[in-house]
Amino acid sequence: AALAGLAVGGPLLAGCRDADRAAAALPARRPVADGPAREVRLVAGPVEVELAPGRVWRTWGYNGQYPGPEIRVREGERLRVTVENDLPGVGTTVHWHGVPVPNPMDGVPGLTQEPIPPGGRTVYEFEATPSGSYMYHSHQGLQLDRGLLGPLVVEETTPHVEYDREHVLVLDDVLMDAPRPLSELVEDGDGGMGMMGRGGMMGRMRGRDRGQGGGRERGGGMMDGMTGGVVPPYAGLAVNGRLPEAPAEFEVRRGERVRLRLINPGGATTYRVAMGGHRMTVTHTDGRPVEPVTVDRLTIGMGERYDVVVEADNPGVWPLVAATVEGDSAPARAVLRYAGAAGSSLRDGLPEGLQGGRALRYGDLQSVETLPAEGAPDRTFDLRLSGGMMMAPDVWTMGGEAYPDAAPLEVREGERVRVDMSNMSMMLHPMHLHGHFFRTGNVLKDTVQVAPHMGRASFEFVADNPGRWFFHCHNLYHLHAGMAREVRYV
Ligand code: C2O
Ligand code: CU
Repeated sequence: AALAGLAVGGPLLAGCRDADRAAAALPARRPVADGPAREVRLVAGPVEVELAPGRVWRTWGYNGQYPGPEIRVREGERLRVTVENDLPGVGTTVHWHGVPVPNPMDGVPGLTQEPIPPGGRTVYEFEATPSGSYMYHSHQGLQLDRGLLGPLVVEETTPHVEYDREHVLVLDDVLMDAPRPLSELVEDGDGGMGMMGRGGMMGRMRGRDRGQGGGRERGGGMMDGMTGGVVPPYAGLAVNGRLPEAPAEFEVRRGERVRLRLINPGGATTYRVAMGGHRMTVTHTDGRPVEPVTVDRLTIGMGERYDVVVEADNPGVWPLVAATVEGDSAPARAVLRYAGAAGSSLRDGLPEGLQGGRALRYGDLQSVETLPAEGAPDRTFDLRLSGGMMMAPDVWTMGGEAYPDAAPLEVREGERVRVDMSNMSMMLHPMHLHGHFFRTGNVLKDTVQVAPHMGRASFEFVADNPGRWFFHCHNLYHLHAGMAREVRYV
C-alpha cells in the first residue's frame, strides 16, 4: 500500500474543528469535470490464487489477481474504467460500492445496464467524489463470492486526520468451490444446514448472531436455527487474499500514526476486529469522516468500511484479528510488524480487545460533515426484514416482497425520504443503498447493520440523484434470494 506522505505529529484532529467542518461538508454534485481522466482497465477472468502455501483457489478475479487491484484516485478526479469480460460464458458488471455515481454508471444488471457479455467490454466513467474508502465488485449473480472484488480509494484533498502511513485491508470469506444459491445448499444439506459448514453441526444456522457490539446473544439450537438461515461453507477467512496460516504483513515504524482502511466485501460474514497491543481510533465509516473515537474492537458488516488510526507506540509483532461475530470459525489474521522486529504473532492467542474493553457502537459515531436535518420526512417506508426457514428455505424479503417481483419504492427528486427497518429474523442484515449516503443517527453511511432478533435501524436521505437504485441486504445469499428493492425516482 502507498505511503501517504502526510504531515507527522500534531493533534489527531487536524487544525481547528470548525474550519474542518466547513471543509469536510459534502461537495455539491457537479457534472463530470473536463480534463484528463484516470484510465484504469479491469479484466474479469479466471485466476489461480495461492491463499497460503499449497492452498490454491481456482476462481475468478480482476487482472489475474484476487482481490482485484487497488484503484486509487484523488477526490474530484475523473475515473474512467474499461471493464473487459473474459469470464467463461457468463455476463458481468462492476458496481462502485458507496460512490454516488450517475445512475447509468452504477453497474446493476437489469436495472442500470445489461450485463457485459463474454468477450465484451464496457466503459464506466464518473467523478471520484466524495473522498473515502470504497470497493468495487461484480453485481452479477453470486460473482462477488467468486472473488470479483477490489478496493477503491478516493484520497482526500484535505485530510480529516493526520497519519504517516496507510494500509488497505480487504476482509473476505473464501469459498473453495463455486458459490451456489441458498436453495441448492439447503437441498444438498450443504452449508449451515449440514455437518460440513465452517462451524460444524448447526454452526452455520446462524441463530446466534450477536449483532452490533455484542449483547444480543441467544442460545443456539434447533429453534433458533429454524428461523435463522443458511450460510455457505467457507474454506476460510482471508485478509488481502491470505489465509491465517500465512497472513499478510504490514510494516510500521515506532511513533507513526498508521491508517488502516478496513473493507468487508464478504459474501456472508460479519467480523469483529481487534488488534493485539493497540487500540483503534475510528476516523471514518463507509468513507465518511467522523469525530475520532478510540475503541478496542468494532463490528464490520458486509459492505461496510471503517478507517481507523493506530498509534504505533508498542513495538513488536502484533496480530490484527477479524473473527466472525458468531466465533464459529478460525479468525482472519493480518500482522503488524514494527520495522526490525523479528518473530511471529501466530502463536499468540486472540487479542483481549476481541472480548474485553470498549466496542464501537453506531451511537458513538458523530459526523464532522453537515448532516441533512432529521424529522418530518416527505415519505417514509416501513420495511420488515424476514425470510429464511420462517417462510421458505430460499426466500428473503423486505416489506414482505422478494426481488425481482417486488414493487419499486417510489420517490421524487428533492424529497426527504425515511426508511425504517425491523428485523423479524435471526440473522443480521447489512442493508446497503446505492447512489446516496444516508443519515443514520448522527452519521452518514451507505450500509447499516440491522441486528437480528427484532433489531431496528432507520435512515434518512435526500433524493438528489435521480435514477433507478438498488437497495438490498449485502449478505450476497440473501440478496440472491430476493432481499432487495428498487428505489425508483418517478
Ligand atoms: Cu456492494 Cu449492491 O452492492
Ligand atoms: Cu440479509
